[in-house]
Order: sequence, then C-alpha cells, then structure tokens
Amino acid sequence: MDEALGIKWVFNNYYSKDKISIDHLNESTADKIIHYHKSFPIYKETPLVSLKSLADRLSIGNIYVKDESKRFDLNAFKVLGGSYAIAVYLAERFGLELSNISYNLLKGDKLKDEELIFVTATDGNHGRGIAWTARQLGYKSVVFMPKGSSVHRIESIRDEGAKVEVLDCNYDDAVRYAKKYAEENKGILVQDTALDNYIDIPIRIMQGYITIAHEISTQLNQEEKKPTHLILQAGVGSFAASMLGYFRNKYGENIKTLILEPKNADCIFKSALINDGKPHIVKGDLETIMAGLSCGEPNPIAWPILRDYGDLFVSCPDYVAEKGMVIMANPVGNDERIISGESGAPGLGLLKMIMEEEKLKKIKEKLEFNESSNVIIISTEGDTDPDSYKKIIAK
Ligand SMILES: Cc1ncc(COP(=O)(O)O)c(C=O)c1O
Repeated sequence: MDEALGIKWVFNNYYSKDKISIDHLNESTADKIIHYHKSFPIYKETPLVSLKSLADRLSIGNIYVKDESKRFDLNAFKVLGGSYAIAVYLAERFGLELSNISYNLLKGDKLKDEELIFVTATDGNHGRGIAWTARQLGYKSVVFMPKGSSVHRIESIRDEGAKVEVLDCNYDDAVRYAKKYAEENKGILVQDTALDNYIDIPIRIMQGYITIAHEISTQLNQEEKKPTHLILQAGVGSFAASMLGYFRNKYGENIKTLILEPKNADCIFKSALINDGKPHIVKGDLETIMAGLSCGEPNPIAWPILRDYGDLFVSCPDYVAEKGMVIMANPVGNDERIISGESGAPGLGLLKMIMEEEKLKKIKEKLEFNESSNVIIISTEGDTDPDSYKKIIAK
C-alpha cells in the first residue's frame, strides 16, 4: 500500500487463473436493456462532455465526463438499475417475454390485478429510482434510509409517492432491515446489493446500469475514439463492476481501471489490501460527504469482478470529491459546466491530482496516464443535496 496527501492506494496484486465470468455484462445484454430503457417516454441519452481545455492543461489526451445528472429528470444514474430489475421481476411474474418488455406493456392495466409493494434501502439515489419506477408503473414503494440522510434526499423520495422511514443505523444495517420488512409484509425487495441467496435482482440492477456504458461507447464511436482508462467510484461496487464488465467485454485488456471510495467507507480498497480474494467489511457510521458511496460491505457478486479485472484501488478523503465538484462547476477554457454532486465528482478530483501532484506520480506512471489517454469519468449524480452542493462550490 502507498499513501500520500491523505490518499491511500493499492495496485491489484490478486491473481486467479479462472477469472469470474462477465458474460452477463456483454454487448448483446446491453442491446436488450437499452431497448427497454428507450421505451420510457422520458428516455434521452445523457451527454458525454469532453473537457478538452482541462485535458490540455493536464497534458492528458481526452477527459470525457458522462453527465448522469440529466438521467430521466432524476439527477442521478441509479434509476437505470432499479427500473430494469423491476421490469424483469414483472415479466417473470406475469409470464411476459423478456425481449418484449416495454414501459407501455408494464404500465398496462392487465398487470394491475395485484397490489405489489416494492421495498428497498438507500442512501438516496437508488430509493428515488425505485419510488419513481414503482409510481410510473402503478405500484407502491417503501424506502428505508440510514441515519443522517439529507432532508432534501428524503423529501425527493417522498415526492415520488414512497413511504419513507429513516432508521437509526448505517446503510448496511438498513439493507438488512429492508429485507426483513419485505419478508414480513409480502413486499418485493429491490436491493442493489446481494444478500445470502438473494442475487437475481442485484444482478438485474447491475445489468440495468450498462445502459450508461453502452451509450458512452456509442458516443465515443461517433468521435472515433476508444477509452483507455476508467475511473469508477464505488459504494457497494455494483456500479463499478457493471461498467468494468461491459468495457472489458467490449475493449479487452488494454483498458485500465481505477476504483475509488471514501476513506471511511473503503470496503473494496480494504478487500484488495487484504488480498485473500474475499470481500471485507468496514464498520461504523461510514461518515463521508459522498453519501452514495457510504457503504461498508461490498456486494458479494460485484467484488469478484473488481478483484479480477480492476487495476488500482484508492481510498480518498472528502476533499477529493470537493475538488472534482469545484472544477466541474468552474470549468477552464471552453469546457462545459457540469453540475456534479459529492458522489459524482471524486473521479475528476483524483485525476487532476494524479496529473499534478509529484507524490502521486507512481499512479500516473504505472497506469500510463498521458497524452494518448482517453479517460472516462462518470458523474453519477448532480446536486442531489442542493444546500451541501452550494456550500461546497462556494468555498
Ligand atoms: C451517485 C452515486 N454514485 C455512485 C454510487 C455507487 O454505486 P454502488 O453502490 O453500486 O457502488 C451510488 C450509490 O448509491 C450513487 O448514488
């Protein structure tokens, strides 16, 4: 492990002869999923913004930021996972052909014979996506949140018609609570992390996210560019594993991947550091401004993908996220402004530091960040806590 400027990092040292399969995150799966997401009247590809002036200043080929604040008017990417998992659940329950599922079909009156309740636990974005999807398709939702959840995030889930309860525990315990609640109340748990035998829905959620990766690859194609680096932020690791799986399937081994987390919730980093192949837990309040990444237990079906295909694991203090937010709010040269929230921005903050800080030179050299690099960063949320956002960019 190395450490500088409050940032800790470990290069991937794990070797397994038989890497875990990523076939479920391939191009043909992505085609089906994007077809479903496109059936939503609100669907629009989110922008892939080229920060060319910043890239020139940092002596790096290109920096592309995918702006997920524009996703379905929900200010975050998460709805892509929950909406697809709910669709597959409904298709199976009502005997529909998976390849035919669409917004109109699922919304239709024929399916409304039963009172279904979708249940989940969330730091904010996932729960809002579940509440939104449930309401769009005519069902109810119950959402549990950990202590300290922001008032704005709570209210925006209530505004989607969900019953919301804030619990006196951290995110990981809220997940267990939601599972128990669903079992006792005939609810359907739609959780973005696997638990014991509960894996089908978390797999669908990860598959739902690959709509983002598929869009990026189409957008890069239009510019005749190929990605060389991915910088991915992780909470439980589902999002990062899903992006990594798709990009490795599509572009092969040459793409380099950096996975980053907040330092008080760095369970993926800890698992890489211990390096016994197993996921490891971080306990406690998991205090960080990056609320979406405040998770202490890796998703057991995402971790093996990160372990087998990731290159570098990084644990970051909150100031790295603040840096990314400020750069995107005050772009250099002709770059476009992006509103990026606490969990959306740490990738760009970290990249700038890697390129500028002598103490992080080892990362720059080993991962070959240079004039030929096309770096992909996904700003996974906008200002989902507007008060906090305003305070940070005013600093
Ligand atoms: C904005 C944002 N970015 C990234 C993540 C990380 O996703 P995962 O928990 O799948 O690692 C989350 C999770 O809620 C999020 O809300």
